[in-house]
This record gives sequence, structure tokens and C-alpha cells, in this order.
Amino acid sequence: MGKLTREDIKKIKEKKLKELHDASVTKLLLCGGTGCHATGSLKLKDALQKEVINKGLEKKVKIVETGCNGFCAMGPLMLVYPEGVFYQKISEKDVPEIIEEHIINKKHVQKLLYVDPVTKKTIPYQKDIPFFSHQMTIALRNKGLIDPEVIEDYIAQDGYMGAAKALLDMTPEEIIHEVKSSGLRGRGGAGFSTGLKWEFANKSKGEIKYVLCNADEGDPGAFMDRSILEADPHAVIEGMIIASKAIGAKQGYIYCRTEYPLAVSRLGIAIQQAKNYGLLGEKMFGSTHSFDIEIYQGAGAFVCGEETALMRSIEGKRGMPRPRPPFPAQKGLWDKPSILNNVETLSNVPQIISKGGKWYSSLGTETSKGTKVFALSGDINNIGLVEVPMGISLKKMIFDIGGGIPNKKKFKAVQLGGPSGGCVPEKYLDTPVDYEAIAKVGAIMGSGGVIIMDEDTCMVDMARFFMDFIQDESCGKCTPCREGTKRILEILNRICDGQGEADDIGKLENLSAIIINSALCGLGQTGPNPVLSTLKYFKDEYYAHIYEKRCPAKRCAALLKFEIDPNLCQKCGLCFKACSAGAITWKKKEVAVIDKSKCVKCLGCYSKCKFNAIL
Ligand SMILES: Cc1cc2nc3c(=O)[nH]c(=O)nc-3n(C[C@H](O)[C@H](O)[C@H](O)COP(=O)(O)O)c2cc1C
Ligand code: SF4
Ligand code: SF4
Ligand code: FES
Repeated sequence: MGKLTREDIKKIKEKKLKELHDASVTKLLLCGGTGCHATGSLKLKDALQKEVINKGLEKKVKIVETGCNGFCAMGPLMLVYPEGVFYQKISEKDVPEIIEEHIINKKHVQKLLYVDPVTKKTIPYQKDIPFFSHQMTIALRNKGLIDPEVIEDYIAQDGYMGAAKALLDMTPEEIIHEVKSSGLRGRGGAGFSTGLKWEFANKSKGEIKYVLCNADEGDPGAFMDRSILEADPHAVIEGMIIASKAIGAKQGYIYCRTEYPLAVSRLGIAIQQAKNYGLLGEKMFGSTHSFDIEIYQGAGAFVCGEETALMRSIEGKRGMPRPRPPFPAQKGLWDKPSILNNVETLSNVPQIISKGGKWYSSLGTETSKGTKVFALSGDINNIGLVEVPMGISLKKMIFDIGGGIPNKKKFKAVQLGGPSGGCVPEKYLDTPVDYEAIAKVGAIMGSGGVIIMDEDTCMVDMARFFMDFIQDESCGKCTPCREGTKRILEILNRICDGQGEADDIGKLENLSAIIINSALCGLGQTGPNPVLSTLKYFKDEYYAHIYEKRCPAKRCAALLKFEIDPNLCQKCGLCFKACSAGAITWKKKEVAVIDKSKCVKCLGCYSKCKFNAIL
């Protein structure tokens, strides 16, 4: 296939749209994201294909493997297009019924439809399910709708039209103006103005410049960028093409961790397809601009997500941060002017160029424009990926979209921004999704990792978890981070082990302040945040651990007795059923008893007992 012009792209789009809207062919959009792969969607795809052939329906049914649809908790899942019927938790044995009932008899397969856990109503159509209906998708606009390995699918959804406009109709300054006026801020965590960053690099002198995409995504609980790359890799490529024209770069790199094999594979396919169509390479779209992209696979160190460390890693050196200035826009990769943008940031760009900065800036709040993608995880019913308009409240996101807390437990806190972030307690749940508003309550927007915690979470243990991660990931270059995070972890370990001392809280606060003020890079500068925010909102839990040698949430094993209080035990036997070590004896209408010699301290029985009877 030769180089495509804008007219060729329009023709491909029209042809593909015709196919898509052909009502005589039902499209089964089966999720092929990492989550659904793990729950069996590949086997399901084979089974569907076999059944379609068995029934001679090859001309009436098309099976499309998409990227992550977002509602990962319900996987493997499938959307029937164009009707929009949503089937969830499908297994191979459901396949004959799907084909017989839905395709041949034109009836819904009731048992696979979504049932609202609150109203108990069956909701057949995806658009009516609260998880989807409250969302607004820009970065995730193609998720679950296209085959990420087919470039024509992307083109059918207006793909590459933003790049064509930028390359053929706009000057670099006009592109920068459009992105600046959109108000787009970097989605990688820091929230810096994307247009301004591009302007700095545009003004830097030099023949050689680079556009880099940060797909390192090291935050525990985060999978926004992986899902975008798996579901819509061309959107990121198109964003990079537009950025390359804005700053005058001929080469781009996508830095993606090796732990994301599906994302790397789909990106590789997408880059090759774009090259085959002449959408990457020399003089794209018949313009004078040339640009190419390579994937660089990182080994998965959290610090390599930091911009200067990432560039060193691409240069083949050990990924360690360096002081700034000089900033990458002046001296970046191989000391050449470079911009680094996050996956989600870049996937917003084609829409901004196509629809205009004004359109984008009309969404959101005064200082936070557009939408934001979040990965909901932890103690929440609807684990998955959501994109919401800026300004929506945390409460709406967690309860209306996320479906609230499972097992009738109470909400305790939400951790935003991963290891660099903080937790937000219940009293601040009305806080809007907005960079400044979230910072005001002691957390950060971060890159979009959202971990919801129920009443059984020990906040000291939670701080310890993040500090363990941070000290493990510290590159060791500067002393405050290397040594300070270790000392903080030692103190937290002591507190959780029942060895806390009266001055530990003061020590934690002092050490945190020193690290924040003197560490070289963002890892150290933000690393103590989870400790400080738990101290701010949950100091009573620290006091209980230190002075009463008690863990109120019953998560710290060293502070528990592993005994059942016969006065509190209601003889229900739930703990007995939960114990896989056979350490609990119980008979109907009798109090349960733990045999400590058999107990492996897994804590499984604690969360099952509804009467707080296990001490
Ligand atoms: C320790 C550390 C890890 C980071 N990891 C990531 C990451 O995985 N992905 C990312 O986009 N940004 C990460 N960042 C932020 C980047 O340094 C940089 O600000 C961002 O990629 C810029 O893109 P943006 O302006 O589009 O947000 C990290 C920063 C620090 C300090
Ligand atoms: S703050 Fe930590 S991770 Fe960053 S350079 Fe210093 S030691 Fe390395
Ligand atoms: S802590 Fe675990 S092993 Fe011990 S009694 Fe409870 S469930 Fe059984
Ligand atoms: S992987 Fe299938 S919905 Fe996320």
C-alpha cells in the first residue's frame, strides 16, 4: 500500500463505516483486554467462531476482538453491535445459547445480562448501565468498539484526521495555540500545561528534537495507560505525530514496560500499519513533515517513569534522575530538545485538533479541563476503567459509577495518586475531580490510580504498604530518599508489630519533611505523602497502635489475639467456613473456637465475622 492522502483516508473511512452500519451483519465485540484474556476471552473467541461456522452464520455474524471495554470486573464480556446489548461473565458453555437465542431467535440471553446490584433490575443495553452512563469518553472514545489491530477500524472513527489537519493545514504555532487554548494538562501526574511544554520545545534551537511517550505506568493499582494502548494504540501514535509537527521532531519513542506484552505487541502492529499507509515515515500525507516512532521497552522500575530517568534509560544508561534545569525542552534525550507526554495526554490530542481547543476547554472546571481516566480498584464493586468529566465529585465516581463498596461494608477512604498521593476520607467525598481541589484535601490527581478502601483497612498498614514500595523503588542516588524512606519504613513496621514508641509520630513527620524538601526527584519529594495524609486524617489509628497496642481495623497480625470472644460469638459459623487451615472448630448452635497451633494468621476469619467477635 502506497502513501495515503487525506482523500484516501476519507474513502477508507466511508467504506469501513458502511460495513460497520450494515444491519445484516451482527458484530460481536468481544473484549480482548488483558483482564478479559485472563478470564478466558481468547477461548471464548474460538468457541464463538466455531459455533458461527457450525450454524453457517459466517455472513451474518462478525466477531471482533477489541481492547479493554472498561468494566473489567464483569469480564469476559461482549457488546453486540449495533444494538448495544451488553453480555457479562460469559463462559464457553454459554456460546451455543448466545448464538441460538440472540442471533437466530433475536432474543436476549437473560442470564448474561447485567443486573443492577441496588435496584435488582436487569439492564440489557450498555448505554443504560450506570457504570457507563455517567462517563464521558474522549481519551477512551474507541475502547471496546474497534479492533486495535486493524487501522481501518480506527480510521472509521475519524482516526488520523487530526494528524492530517495538523500536517496539512496548520503551522506549528497554530497547533500549539490550539492545545494551549484547550487547557489540556499532563495526565502523567504533574498536571503541567501540555501546550506550554510544546511551546518551550518549539522555541528551543536545534535540528534534532524528540517526542517521547511515557507508557511506564508504575503506580500500583494503575492500568489506564495499558488499557489505552491495548484498546486504541493509533490514538497515541496520532497524538505523537501532531506533537512532532508542533515542536519540529523527526523521531519519537514510546517507553513502555516489558510487563505490558499485549500493549507492546498492539503498539508494534499499529506502528507498522501506520508506516505501511505512509502515516508515519517520510513526508506524511503528502506534506513536508517526516516522523517515525520506535518502542523502547523498560524493565519496570518505577523511577524510570520520571522524565530524566526515562531519557537516560532510552540512552542505554541506568535509569536515574538528574537535577533540572536544564529541562528536557532544552536538553532532553541525548541532550537534544525533547518533550515527554503521558499516554492519556497524547490520546486526547487528535480530538482537540479535530474539534478545536474551545470545545475541549468547554468541559470541566475553571482550571481542570476535559475529562480524566481513572482505574478503580480495591474495595469497590465495579473494578475497571472509567473516564469522567473533570468536576464530577469523588462520591459520584465511587458510588454511582463504581457501584459502591462490596459486602455491605462501610467506605473508609480513597487513595488517589498512588505512592505519590494521599487518601481522602469520607467527609471530603464531595470534592470534585479537579487538580487544585484534590490537592487542597491532601491528595493529588496523579495519573489516575484510585484505590478504594473499606472499613477493614488499617491506615497505618496502608501507609506501610506504599512506603515499602517507595523505598524498594528508590534509585538510591540521593541520601534523603535512599536512607530516609528506609527509616520511615522501619518505624511503620515497628508500629504495626506492636513496638511503636511515643515519639514515633514526631519522627515520621520530621523525616517526611526532610525527604520532601531535599530529595532530588519526584519519587522522594512525594514518597512520604501517604504517611502524611494518613497521619492527617487517621492519627487516632496510629495512637491505638502505639499506645494501646491495638489495630482497630484488625489487620496487623502482631496486635491480634486470634481468639474468639464467646460472649460476642453468635454461633453463625462464618469464620469456620472461611478458615482453609482447619484451625476453627464449630458446630451448629455452638461457639466457634480457634486452635492457635493450627492457625496460620491469614486473617481470613476476621473480615467474615459480622459480630466483631474475633479478638
Ligand atoms: C517517580 C516518578 C514516576 C513517574 N511515572 C510516570 C509514569 O509511569 N507515567 C507518566 O506518564 N508519568 C510519570 N511520571 C511523571 C513524568 O515524570 C512526567 O511528568 C510525565 O510523563 C509528563 O507527561 P505529561 O505532561 O503528559 O503528564 C513520574 C514521575 C515520577 C517522579
Ligand atoms: S529522590 Fe529517590 S529516586 Fe529520586 S533521585 Fe533521589 S534517591 Fe533516586
Ligand atoms: S486467621 Fe486464618 S488460619 Fe487463623 S483461624 Fe482465622 S481463618 Fe483460620
Ligand atoms: S479487560 Fe475486558 S473489560 Fe477490561
